[in-house]
Amino acid sequence: MAHKVGIIGGDGIGPEVIAEGLKVIRAAGVELDTVDYDLGGARYLRDGEVLSDETLEEWRGLDALYLGAVGTPEVPPGVIERGLLLKMRFVLDLYINRRPFIFEGDDARDPHDFIVIRENTEGTYAGEGGFLRKNTPAEIATQGSVNTRMGVERCIRYSFTLAQSRPRKHLTLVHKTNVLTFSGDLWERTFNEVAEEFPDVETAYNHVDAACIYFVQDPGRYDVIVTDNLFGDILTDLGGAVSGGIGFASSANLNPTGVSMFEPVHGSAPDIAGQNLANPTAAVLSGAMMLDHLGEAAAADRIRAAAADTSTLVGSTTEVGDLLVARLG
Ligand code: IPM
Ligand code: MN
Repeated sequence: MAHKVGIIGGDGIGPEVIAEGLKVIRAAGVELDTVDYDLGGARYLRDGEVLSDETLEEWRGLDALYLGAVGTPEVPPGVIERGLLLKMRFVLDLYINRRPFIFEGDDARDPHDFIVIRENTEGTYAGEGGFLRKNTPAEIATQGSVNTRMGVERCIRYSFTLAQSRPRKHLTLVHKTNVLTFSGDLWERTFNEVAEEFPDVETAYNHVDAACIYFVQDPGRYDVIVTDNLFGDILTDLGGAVSGGIGFASSANLNPTGVSMFEPVHGSAPDIAGQNLANPTAAVLSGAMMLDHLGEAAAADRIRAAAADTSTLVGSTTEVGDLLVARLG
């Protein structure tokens, strides 16, 4: 039976890269029953719609959601990000943001990869805070970080389980416990407690600033990383940049017991939109993660194999898509 997938192409390069992703998925032999949702900054400018509760409820009945990118410079910051993307992550409780990075390296016989697990529903993203005396000389703005034991623990437990399933069985907590002595303490204690359930998983801890150095100078030390929402946002752009470029960085927003959403890490890139210039590989690889989730692991592996040698994936958006389709035979 065809998998029922909601498609949100979104803004800028989003629809272009999703079209290639769908093309490659079909070429891998997987049948999708797609439902298009016209959402994002452009739609908002047209009729004010961001994301209705009815649409969200409809999504609960789907097998997955596949999203390109949302956001456009004409809409003030936050409207689409909070009203669409974050609403989706929060209301559907997509609490795991899984972002894999592949380092092909100079020696093709010794490739390396690591996976960042970013907590996806809490932290500074939760929306805590506000203004007092806004637009006066005495105004104050606060934006706190919300960290619940439940939210932190489920994310850490997922990460240990993932690390345990991998050959190296190694998990690094990334935080800033030397300064964030409240939230960092909660993360560290939870990490150490859950670690006792996974005696075969080796653990490490890095401060986030040090992790930035290691991402660049020694990424081979990592296997699985778990971190909070904002650190994970920043670190995964860096991860993309050091592992071949953000054009290859894929992600899964997972609710392990509900509908999940798959999207490239990159944004809508309005500067290159509509020019057939965007690299569709991140969207294609996000599609492969979606296939894993839909129980189509063989097709997902074939797509990843086709996209393996990233240095050969050059050309226009549609050319790279065609090349991947050709490699699938
Ligand atoms: C990402 C994006 C989003 C985030 C934005 C668009 C809200 O940067 O998915 O990494 O900050 O999470
Ligand atoms: Mn980001």
